[in-house]
Amino acid sequence: MFSITLSSIPSIIRAKRCFQHSNPVHVAAAAALATATPAIMNKRLISAFVQNDRYIIVREEDADADADENENLNGNAMKFPGVWLRDNCRCPQCFHQSSQSRRIDWDKFDIKVKVQDISADKLEKSITVKWSDQHSSTYDLKWLRERDFNARSRNKYLTEFYRPKPVHWRKTDFNNVTNVFKFDDVINNDNDLQKWLESLAVYGVAIIEDSPLENDVVRRLADRVGFIRKTTYGEEFIVQSKPGAKNYAYLSDKLPLHTDLPYYEYKPSVNILHCVVQSLSKGGSNTLVDAFYVADQMKSKYPDEFKVLTETIVDWNDIGIEDGKPFHNIWRSPVICLDKEGNYARINHSIPQRDSHFSVDLDTVIPWYEAYSKFVQLAQTEAAEFKTKPGDILTFNNIRLLHGRTAYDDTDENVRYIVGAYMDWDIIYSKLRILKSKRETF
Ligand code: OGA
Ligand code: ZN
Ligand code: ZN
Repeated sequence: MFSITLSSIPSIIRAKRCFQHSNPVHVAAAAALATATPAIMNKRLISAFVQNDRYIIVREEDADADADENENLNGNAMKFPGVWLRDNCRCPQCFHQSSQSRRIDWDKFDIKVKVQDISADKLEKSITVKWSDQHSSTYDLKWLRERDFNARSRNKYLTEFYRPKPVHWRKTDFNNVTNVFKFDDVINNDNDLQKWLESLAVYGVAIIEDSPLENDVVRRLADRVGFIRKTTYGEEFIVQSKPGAKNYAYLSDKLPLHTDLPYYEYKPSVNILHCVVQSLSKGGSNTLVDAFYVADQMKSKYPDEFKVLTETIVDWNDIGIEDGKPFHNIWRSPVICLDKEGNYARINHSIPQRDSHFSVDLDTVIPWYEAYSKFVQLAQTEAAEFKTKPGDILTFNNIRLLHGRTAYDDTDENVRYIVGAYMDWDIIYSKLRILKSKRETF
């Protein structure tokens, strides 16, 4: 135990920025070692200084550590651009607390703002900066740590809070990656809800079983997360063999591997397929494949064809009439879409919903067919097949997985009745973050 009582040594360590110096001026943190107040129980001291006029370095030091140990700790010093700190001042003038929004007046914002003075408060665990625009800002150390620019912190934030990192899988992994949940658990327990959504985010597939055989189950599930994503086909849709089908899926024929609604710029993210009645005939099974894994295979085995599939823009379309309202949807986009970091952003594939218009240079058409046929073949060999039973809800990522259905015999005695709905990733990720932040802070 510390026997030294609260002393009169000020707990605020203060340093003036010396603008002439090119070397940083270190705050005299060592002086604070004498202040063995109760706050020092966790033995961390803070120091802060300005570097190269434009950066602020914040360090935590161990009061008990020797110089070498502290040198190691200092390797973990946080470095923040001054302009970023000023932009992110948390005072009520710069930040609106109840809407959690920046309110700083950017018409007057000086991106060349300079630090005039920094102080570190080890009791409050914060640093205070006085700026050249006469403003003063205080930053909580924990808040700063969560926003540290180092690669490890950014990666932690991106994979643990922003979006979980997808794990790509092949056909033989299907049973291992497909987590199964109970409907009542997902509806009643936040922990199960979180685990289901995490499974969807990481593997792109999860099954919920033992649900009631009722038409509103898909809505109840979507409402548990947020809300249903409406499309041309409504909010809930019934997948059933129908005379004069307005959608290819509404036949009892084989439904080849596809993504739903590739003809939408903002295609729905996650499919919910609730099996209410399953065909007793052979067939009526679902097929699923991780198209991110297929894309990985294309990239390593057929790099030229992979490139063609990421670059050639395909016209996807859907023409029809729903509830008496005619529609004609078109979206132009490659089969494999990459984002700015080269990650897979979206997969588009549907033989029935690929337009006969192919508005690309003539020379690119035949190479595209060659590349596409390799993709389709690989997808077929990596597709898992399984048959859902009444009460099962198959949920999967429509941006990433391809799905299909084997043909079945549709007769009066042999019916198949699936209720479907969609949800969007924005809504799902938001719910995941809310569930996560109940347990941790970010
Ligand atoms: C669809 C679909 C799967 C099924 O309607 O787009 O893929 O199991 N249905 O019928
Ligand atoms: Zn402010
Ligand atoms: Zn489908």
